[in-house]
Amino acid sequence: MSRPVLLFDSGIGGLTVLREARVLMPERSFVYVADDAGFPYGGWEEEALKSRLLTLFKDLLHRFDPEIAVVACNTAFTLAGADLRAAFPGTVFVGTVPAIKPAAERTRSGLISVLATPGTVKRAYTRDLIQSFASQCHVRLVGSARLASMAEAYIRGETLADAEVLTEIRDCFHEKEGARTDIVVLACTHYPFLVNVFRRLAPWPVDWLDPAEAIARQARRLVPPLDRLKADSRPDRVVFTSDAPDFATQRLVQGFGLSPLV
Ligand code: DGL
Repeated sequence: MSRPVLLFDSGIGGLTVLREARVLMPERSFVYVADDAGFPYGGWEEEALKSRLLTLFKDLLHRFDPEIAVVACNTAFTLAGADLRAAFPGTVFVGTVPAIKPAAERTRSGLISVLATPGTVKRAYTRDLIQSFASQCHVRLVGSARLASMAEAYIRGETLADAEVLTEIRDCFHEKEGARTDIVVLACTHYPFLVNVFRRLAPWPVDWLDPAEAIARQARRLVPPLDRLKADSRPDRVVFTSDAPDFATQRLVQGFGLSPLV
């Protein structure tokens, strides 16, 4: 039996990455882990979140012995990516960081916004990315304490008030000397679920940069393809750290073809 691909997020945001990973790795089986007991990560104090992640991964890597671990969460990886790699040198990690480099390469106006959790916005890692790859651009960091939870509600079928979403994204839109923001980096894996709402409410059209496909491509590069006869036919599985996801969430992950691990 081949080893699974582990995909981790604080909640259901990593499903946006799972979607792409399945396209590129159809022969692999996945274990999706949502740390819903710790959700949302955005407001956690850094040391506490780091030690939670190290403890969780110790258990997950032991339990599932994955071929690769994809941390599909900017808030977690920008904080603890280096510590996870150092603590578990036998595991290959693929991380998620704000797509500042591709945004800087693509922008025409030179005005970029990074929409993320408050945690990701204040990380040294994020500042370093800007300094290394986007020093010629004007980068605006927009932290939202509410959007990840709003995305969870939306994907579970609840209605969001336009005005409330607009309040969270408004600061992404910036005009300077006749130029306007033309790229908004979706630096939280929950946000692509809301991208159609963002598009509809945006004061002007921008590119909403979703890194999911790039993360999946990186994982594909690091996971050896299995030949068809050895393809892993086990159903994809899901773990909630709360052990008690609500009914709407259970239905959602079922719709994604994930079976609860018992
Ligand atoms: N999906 C996570 C990310 O990419 C964050 C959501 C949260 O827990 O606040 O940053």
